[in-house]
Amino acid sequence: MTGRCESIASRTASSRNSGEYLLALPNFPLVSLQDHRIGSLSGNLGAPQVAAASLHDIGYAPALAHTGFHPLDGARWLQDQGVEERLVCLVAHHTAALVEAQRRGLRAELEEFCFEDSEVTDALWYADLTSSPIGEAVDVDTRLGEILVRYGPGTVVFDSITQARPGLEAAVRRVEGRLAALNRR
Ligand SMILES: [Fe+2]
Repeated sequence: MTGRCESIASRTASSRNSGEYLLALPNFPLVSLQDHRIGSLSGNLGAPQVAAASLHDIGYAPALAHTGFHPLDGARWLQDQGVEERLVCLVAHHTAALVEAQRRGLRAELEEFCFEDSEVTDALWYADLTSSPIGEAVDVDTRLGEILVRYGPGTVVFDSITQARPGLEAAVRRVEGRLAALNRR
């Protein structure tokens, strides 16, 4: 993380500005449920993670789709609303968004937002990767398999997920390890 990003990540996050947007997401309740399942992992997980899990796909909303790349569109819109910067950055970089941004020619635009290399990021990605599009709890293979079938070979999403897969699976394994350690206590 750069100095600026470290400073953002270390701030106490506030969900003060995010509550009104939560219901904009069809899968909010169940993605949020996944989030709460891992919410006890450490003292670092709290409001920013819960809010980011709830808001991460808000860029899919047609009214917000300016570039057509939902992590960037969502982050820019949240930024415009004055949402806390750490949360905006978590949304921008959710679930290896940088890989797809590169393929879409939007890497520089996404990198205007800080990437937070932390347990909070892992937990957000885990929540996304273990929730189906309708919010059911699924394993990461099922989740990624569904995305690959839905978009199909030759699409930007298919190629991006394929490229990002090792990193996505590693994030899930790290969270599963933390959960297992927690359960052994
Ligand atoms: Fe997403």
